[in-house]
Amino acid sequence: MSFGIRVNDQPFDSAPRPGQCLRTYLRECGWFGVKKGCDAGDCGACTVQVDGEPVHSCLYPAVRAAGRSVTTVEGLAAPDGELHPVQKRFLDAQGFQCGFCTAGFLMTTAALEAEHGTEDDDGKLDDLPRAFKGNLCRCTGYRAIEDAVRGVQHIERPRSGEAVGRSPGAPAGPDVVTGTARYTFDVKVPGLLHMKLLRSPHPHARIVSIDTSEALRVPGVRAVLTHEDAPATLYSSARHERPGVDPDDTRVLDDTVRFAGQRVAAVVADSERDAEEGCRRIRVEYSRLPYVMDAEEAMAPGAPVLHAGKGPETRIARVENNVAAEVHGEIGCVDDGFAEAAVVYEETFRTQRVQHASLETHGCVAYFEPKEDGAGERLTIRSSTQTPFLTRRAICALYGLPEDEVRVVAGLVGGSFGGKQEMLTEDIVTLAALRLRRPVKLEYTRAEQFHGATTRHPFTIGVRIGARQDGTLTAIQMRVVSNTGAYGNHGPAVLCTGVGESFAMYRAPHKRVDAFSVYTNVVPAGAFRGYGLSQVTFALESVMDELARRLGMDPLILRERNIIRPDEHVLSPIGEEEEDLHIASYGLDQCLAVIRGAVAGDHSADGTPEGWVTGQGAALAMVATGPPGGHHADAAISLRLDGTYDLAVGTAEFGNGTTTVHRQIAADALHTTVDRITIRHSDTDAVRHDTGAFGSTGTFVAGKAVLLAAEELADRLRSFAARYTGVAGHMCVLGSETVDCAGRTLTLEELRQAAHTDCAPEAVSARGHWSGSPRSVAFNAHWFRIAVDPDTGEMRILRSVHAADAGKVMNPVQCRGQVEGGVAQALGATLFERVRLDERGEVTTDAFRNYRLPQHADVPRTEVHFAETDDTIGPLGAKSMSESPFIPVAPAFANALRDATGVRFTELPLTRDRVWLAIAQRARARTSPAETPGA
Ligand code: FES
Repeated sequence: MSFGIRVNDQPFDSAPRPGQCLRTYLRECGWFGVKKGCDAGDCGACTVQVDGEPVHSCLYPAVRAAGRSVTTVEGLAAPDGELHPVQKRFLDAQGFQCGFCTAGFLMTTAALEAEHGTEDDDGKLDDLPRAFKGNLCRCTGYRAIEDAVRGVQHIERPRSGEAVGRSPGAPAGPDVVTGTARYTFDVKVPGLLHMKLLRSPHPHARIVSIDTSEALRVPGVRAVLTHEDAPATLYSSARHERPGVDPDDTRVLDDTVRFAGQRVAAVVADSERDAEEGCRRIRVEYSRLPYVMDAEEAMAPGAPVLHAGKGPETRIARVENNVAAEVHGEIGCVDDGFAEAAVVYEETFRTQRVQHASLETHGCVAYFEPKEDGAGERLTIRSSTQTPFLTRRAICALYGLPEDEVRVVAGLVGGSFGGKQEMLTEDIVTLAALRLRRPVKLEYTRAEQFHGATTRHPFTIGVRIGARQDGTLTAIQMRVVSNTGAYGNHGPAVLCTGVGESFAMYRAPHKRVDAFSVYTNVVPAGAFRGYGLSQVTFALESVMDELARRLGMDPLILRERNIIRPDEHVLSPIGEEEEDLHIASYGLDQCLAVIRGAVAGDHSADGTPEGWVTGQGAALAMVATGPPGGHHADAAISLRLDGTYDLAVGTAEFGNGTTTVHRQIAADALHTTVDRITIRHSDTDAVRHDTGAFGSTGTFVAGKAVLLAAEELADRLRSFAARYTGVAGHMCVLGSETVDCAGRTLTLEELRQAAHTDCAPEAVSARGHWSGSPRSVAFNAHWFRIAVDPDTGEMRILRSVHAADAGKVMNPVQCRGQVEGGVAQALGATLFERVRLDERGEVTTDAFRNYRLPQHADVPRTEVHFAETDDTIGPLGAKSMSESPFIPVAPAFANALRDATGVRFTELPLTRDRVWLAIAQRARARTSPAETPGA
């Protein structure tokens, strides 16, 4: 019987497998625009239309589509290729960042408009929060999406040499809106095998035995891998340029499990279903060990030791106390500083475990390709990674492979936020591929993303701060305990960054820090936007606010009096990490002025519901423009035969917009337009070594490498044109498509052909490299006015203002999107996001329906302002702006909440029930003259 489904007006007769959902059916038919974000109907990335109705195809049985007409994002455009109006509007408004959610939003919006029309007579388009209830975006903060729906034109088409400072669209934009952009898993690999992982149910146990015989009997199962198959080498899953940054405490498969969710075995099979069945049939005998989940308890004498037996070569600071890393440092003498203070305030703050929740989950596909010279095959790993080169380095070290035997490449990456600065799948997939000499794929489920990927480090931060009566700070002291979980990936670096720029932003003469990164039997933490600074800044900006209240000062004046000045050194008590940090541009004063202006002219509290209380609060942040210790970027650019340019960079594009900015920089240096620059990225074959896309280095470091390469190529083209035409070099002027040499005009095609004829390839190509040092600092400030219903704890954001010092803003639309997305993500972490664990450390919030991400309805519009500064280190005056907008949001909100309610909240998230409870407790305590209670 014919199945009779039509997909994008094409007939498909192959019947689905029993129980198959429409999402996987469509992808198997080659419609890769249909994405997997959750497979639970929560995120909407898989939205398609069935007979015009938008449905979540992950929940829709494929068999129900028989005889129906299905439209995916690939079918939205007209048959002649003319884009659907909704696709055009998403392009014009730059209504996406990573673009992984975009197909879903397009399909929902197109269906909405088909029903109600763009004129929207019945007002349905005005209720976008309701319309987008089934679609999540983790990147944009929804403003750009809403603008796209409303037809706001943001994208510009700058003229030759005028791209920097304007807002051309992302190079991948047309592919994103048509569903032809290729993300990690959007490839067909013949003979592909599928991997599934068996994970530990115990928080701490030794594996006594593993019986794989029943698993191997499952038809389709090709291999079962256990710790006996894995190399004994210890490594860290964190990726850093300097190999010694992270403790080497991890094995591909270990004979000891240290958290519930750790991988125990891998099954490789012809299908995911066979691999899952294989996992179910593995029998593991465990010998359970005592476990510890609290970081303070883990450091105490007698606590279970997680990494017993590991020696100094692993660089674990104190194995016996579960201390992965610690830093201690003092400037001046804090005891003297507190003795000088008129007011001393002390409080302890706690931040929670938060998940990146990038819509594309972790995973990779490994396969073999013939070598260029025909001498055998080499391994290609297509991965959802921020660090292709560092991943290749780690894979080669683990398996003893030369680097020219391994290629690591990323397609577009569907969101990352630091989570993919980690090698979580490539190691075990490589093990299977090498063993079987077959292509192997591992794609995490959404639940695995919670159980087996990383989180933000939960911090406990004790702060003591002192000031003279005039507000001059005399001393700051902090004790920081970071829970790194079962493994120390990023633990030391997150700790050092956390107590770095946060401490340095204020000019107290006496500062001390004691900080510990501690192993516990829970899911490991890792790199996450803000990298420790968001946690410490929550504490520090809260105590600054509280100190101001005790001094009877305006908190903004207290900050102005004590902030770092433009001519000062960036100094924290841990010193050496900051040696190459300079204030190469300074916009903190402008950020503060924006906030002061917002406060002064604000009327947003007018009309607040009766009985509600209102409050306002601000917070500041300073962040380095790259990680310490060097961060290498490499770019290569060449003139092609058709007179356009090929730009290759090593960093990945995951919605951070680097490909857009890199194209702008190259276009201006070459006096041409952005559409004449095509860009390849994140491919170890494309350029020399590149550290990768993390630490907000995409513009500041990789952008500089692009600038150097493009400027060098412009010089070479002019020189070659001069030689070719026989005129003086300074007489040759490079234009968009031509070179003019004293009246003789050559097209770039002619010049390229001349170089070919002349055997002068060096004349039409160039490379650029930048080491990422010295570094500068960027600044951010956020301000909220909020209203709170004391009877219910409900909170509303009345106004949200963000000021950012990004140096020269390379692409205002994109930079504003980074700020809005960072603020939205931070609001989730401030108000409700929390990875919950049960009593044995197993994650219980492993789906988006119980780990709530900000929806359209949750995110207010933020007014974004940029300082006007020009950095003397960054490319063309630019600084970074992808991590930093996150950092001041939580303390600004907490300060506004304090202002509104009188309660100092010291623990995130600031959930409605917690707020209500604290307000109620304060009301009961009001009869007592005691200090304002905290919560
Ligand atoms: Fe929406 Fe990345 S652009 S999830």
